[in-house]
Amino acid sequence: MSGSEVTQAEKDGAALYNRAALALYDTGVLRLSNTLAWRCPAERLLEHYDANLSGRHLDIGPGTGWYLQHATYPTQSPEITLMDLNPATMKVTTNRLAGRGITPATHTGSILAPINTDRGPFDSVAANFVMHCVPGTWQEKGVAFAHIAKVVSDDGVFFGSTILGKGADHNPLGKALCALYNGPLKIFHNRDDDLAGLDAALDAAFEHVDMTVVGTVAVFAARGPRRQ
Ligand SMILES: C[S@@+](CC[C@H](N)C(=O)[O-])C[C@H]1O[C@@H](n2cnc3c(N)ncnc32)[C@H](O)[C@@H]1O
Repeated sequence: MSGSEVTQAEKDGAALYNRAALALYDTGVLRLSNTLAWRCPAERLLEHYDANLSGRHLDIGPGTGWYLQHATYPTQSPEITLMDLNPATMKVTTNRLAGRGITPATHTGSILAPINTDRGPFDSVAANFVMHCVPGTWQEKGVAFAHIAKVVSDDGVFFGSTILGKGADHNPLGKALCALYNGPLKIFHNRDDDLAGLDAALDAAFEHVDMTVVGTVAVFAARGPRRQ
């Protein structure tokens, strides 16, 4: 999974986020699932954005762009780059950011591939609620962190969050959604995603890793990119 060819499983993980699904996303995921199933409210993750966002930011897997729209930026005219396997998300996010006077650059690509954009290095890179959509074990998904470390500036930060599948204290709704999303819908790949594996994978690419678990969600910030 380290090559730049996008697999069908990667495509499946991003394909759901078409215009119709994105229209329901803020209510279905950010309002309901985040709070009731994963027990990690969107406002908690918005705080994580506010604490880590820079004025030169790359957002991987922006979805509807809700966080980028509502975030507090440290500079008046932030330079934002969006990256996603599904261009529909970047279109929706671009439209939303127009309301804040921000015109992001866009880059279509998978988080598992090298990031070929001339806009870097970035002082912050986020992948929020993305890794549980990405196929593979933590060792395989860790390739993403090595690619991200290459585009984070020396003093920059890589932050985000991901729903844990293994060893997490899921309530009945969370268990049912994980089974559905990992099973017939194929939009999650987090059955074996545990906290220790995530920590080790981040550690391989960054010198300092801060991790908190909120509900069943691992919320992380990693600094000191290792240049491999
Ligand atoms: C669950 S949504 C998260 C959206 C938003 N970041 C949030 O926190 O609400 C997952 C996002 O990751 C994108 N995505 C899924 N797999 C991807 C991959 N392999 N490479 C890049 N983006 C991917 C999806 O298209 C979507 O925008």
